[in-house]
Amino acid sequence: MTVLLDDPLDAAALILAGELVAFATETVYGLGADARNGKAVAGIFEAKGRPHFNPLICHFPDAESAWAEVRPDDRARALAAAFWPGPLTLVLPRRADCRVDLLAGAGLDTLAVRVPAHDGALALLRAAGTPVAAPSANRSGRVSPTSAAHVMEELSGRIAAVLEGGDCPVGVESTVLDLAAGGAVLLRPGGVPVEAIEAVIGPVGRAVPLSAAAGRSLRSPGMMLSHYAPALPVRLDATEVGPDEALLAFGPPLRGAGTVFQLSETGDLREAASRLFSGLRTLDASGRRGIAAMPIPERGLGAAIRDRLARAAAPRHA
Ligand code: TXA
Ligand code: MG
Repeated sequence: MTVLLDDPLDAAALILAGELVAFATETVYGLGADARNGKAVAGIFEAKGRPHFNPLICHFPDAESAWAEVRPDDRARALAAAFWPGPLTLVLPRRADCRVDLLAGAGLDTLAVRVPAHDGALALLRAAGTPVAAPSANRSGRVSPTSAAHVMEELSGRIAAVLEGGDCPVGVESTVLDLAAGGAVLLRPGGVPVEAIEAVIGPVGRAVPLSAAAGRSLRSPGMMLSHYAPALPVRLDATEVGPDEALLAFGPPLRGAGTVFQLSETGDLREAASRLFSGLRTLDASGRRGIAAMPIPERGLGAAIRDRLARAAAPRHA
């Protein structure tokens, strides 16, 4: 059963216990989980019924706590001073000691961070004291909810709680700006107009065709705006393992495998999702010639895991 909460402290306690809690921000309701907890983050994708893993925004009560996880440059600091709390999300390099689980960032070296302008959200984030990963609190393919009642319609029975926070005043998602690669690129238009951003840091590049593409489930990884892919070739649905291959195991490992990363001994898809990106990274560094991935069932989170492995397996062009 999904409960409706009034007290942000109760919401924070549930988040810290690994539960999913939807909460209001000034833009839309977010579906929050402790971003350090890979299983809780996997639960977000499960609850939304998302057929693929995309990187999620991490929410913080203030800029200082965001800077503990990512490395801001001068532009990021200036934009934070101008627009936080507010509907602007900054994509920045993860710090080496970043506590956010790799699944929340879809395996990328960058992380999207923001400080929402909503008293209830800020109280929750302050009390939780952990980065909170939160995409919009709707089922996959549906519009973003802007009231607690909308969230209940979408996710009742699939999440622990909704923190009542009234109607969202902005109603569209935050503007997403990529500052990680040196330039400044608009990945998603949103609550802060790009002109207002340009008034602070100068010209901003538009990635419109790519950002439109990034929202869809694309078969061609080359068309993705950014995604993590291992350097080693990945072989899907492997039923035997070659002598120079590392094994990404799901359930009892195939016989003869030298290097093994176990996604889930018991075949738990949520556990497997939470370990997918660390598994790919670990095996990528194993010194073997390729990665053999054991079959993952298509049901539930399995579809998203298979989607990510298929992207990793697809031929890449420089
Ligand atoms: O207003 C909002 O931003 C809402 C509320 C709940 O805060 N959240 C939201 O989150 O819309 P989400 O996860 O649905 O949107 C994340 C967007 C996606 O377009 C994603 O591709 C982009 O941010 N994004 C996240 N991390 C990224 C990264 N490391 N690099 C590039 N894009 C990233
Ligand atoms: Mg959304």
